[in-house]
Amino acid sequence: MKITKKSTYRPEQGACVVIPVFKGMKTAELWREFPELEFPARGRKFRGEIGEALACHSLERQRLFLLIGGGRLGHPPDARKLACKAMSLLREHHVGRALIYFTAPGPYPSDYLRTLADYLHLNNYRFDRYRKKKIKPVERIQLVFKKRIAWSGSELPAREIVLGEVNRVRDLVNEIPAKVTPDSLVEAFKASARRHGLKLGVWRTRELGRNGMNGLLTVGASSCCEPALVTISRVPEHFSRTIALVGKGITFDAGGLNLKPASGMEEMKCDMAGAAAVLGAMNAIAGLDLPVKVIGLAALAENLPGRRAYKPGDIITYANKKTVEIANTDAEGRLVLADALIAAARQKPDMIIEISTLTGAIVTALGDSYAGLMCRSKKLAAGLLQAGEASGELLWELPLPAEYRESIVSKVADLKNSHYDGASSIKAGLFLSEFAGKIPFAHIDIAGTAFLSKPNFCLSAEGATGFGVRLLVEFLQNLGA
Ligand code: BES
Ligand code: MN
Ligand code: ZN
Repeated sequence: MKITKKSTYRPEQGACVVIPVFKGMKTAELWREFPELEFPARGRKFRGEIGEALACHSLERQRLFLLIGGGRLGHPPDARKLACKAMSLLREHHVGRALIYFTAPGPYPSDYLRTLADYLHLNNYRFDRYRKKKIKPVERIQLVFKKRIAWSGSELPAREIVLGEVNRVRDLVNEIPAKVTPDSLVEAFKASARRHGLKLGVWRTRELGRNGMNGLLTVGASSCCEPALVTISRVPEHFSRTIALVGKGITFDAGGLNLKPASGMEEMKCDMAGAAAVLGAMNAIAGLDLPVKVIGLAALAENLPGRRAYKPGDIITYANKKTVEIANTDAEGRLVLADALIAAARQKPDMIIEISTLTGAIVTALGDSYAGLMCRSKKLAAGLLQAGEASGELLWELPLPAEYRESIVSKVADLKNSHYDGASSIKAGLFLSEFAGKIPFAHIDIAGTAFLSKPNFCLSAEGATGFGVRLLVEFLQNLGA
């Protein structure tokens, strides 16, 4: 969808006009300004509350007007809700083009307008590939301000790039598990590398074996599709820092021999959302030409029971010589991520940011609006928390206390992948940090935020959210600046 700022109110033929009504606005003035608005709009009281909406046609029935409650002008959370309501009404009325007319004098802070643009894009998304009844997306929105404002709208094209990637990631995560396999994700990475001229390395069974990537080989053993470790990198002409992004790409997590219960297993197609977010972020930073060197790594495998399935009691020896006892085959994420972290650390980046749908416990702790952040570097954590606030993809920090380490120590190996004594999100983070060497390392657990079983008003419709793309791009943008 294209969003542009226009300086004059001149709605195109057939375009719908959206008029946000903010709290404290005088509606009588609106009726005076738009004499073409017909009854029942005319004379009706409108408080400007979130959720209020009124659709009406101009007197000659030529044009659809939508009056939408905007809440507090300048308050970014209300911009999200306004955008959500506007998009759902536009789609309900099968509108292809719209003009949003801001009659209030303002002020219009840039973070407010940027949030509005982001959430217009986000709420234009539906996953309807497999439905006969499709919901047509909106193609074009013009933003018009009655009074001249300082904001030029120059960031709109960049937001279109970023949000376009977010929505592509959502397509990938929502796609059915029959179609999303390590093979198809490798193809997706190849396509991006081609499109943006990025360097790509793909390790399949043979190379994984040669390089001791035994976590991926073990977890992926029972699938008919080989596991893969993908490395995609972008080296701009000028850069001062190198960042590694690592994503969990379990294309389906049935739990393995420690099979998951039936209820909710269908949602485990989302277990590659971390890898998809890395892919989306790589595409976006290439599209924006950010001055940072970024190495993206994706650990791809399928976790299924089967004749060749790995078993509780098995022990994996990693490339860094650490050994891990399998206590539970459903704690597979950390096993494949350990390989990817070892590979990332070997490239000696300045920091490693890893993102994964790692633990059910993070859903219990933080729900679907905050992802868990675990990071020992104060500076890296602060940068990520701030990027979360700015992008709207919020993070909440959890500690990585050394005292908890003993519960991931095994009696027969160096570490074990599961335990029965609580704090499992934190202990998963502790496990991962064992594989990042001395490099500043951040773990982001998106098990609650990546995929919604019910819509989260104004964040997203149900299904994939694309969580991580906006956050990572924001963080990298701030680093480059
Ligand atoms: N992929 C799951 C975590 C998950 C849960 C993602 C809910 C999305 C929504 C992960 O592999 C898993 O199964 N974790 C286990 C670990 C346990 C066996 C130590 C969990 O959290 O229950
Ligand atoms: Mn699992
Ligand atoms: Zn998993």
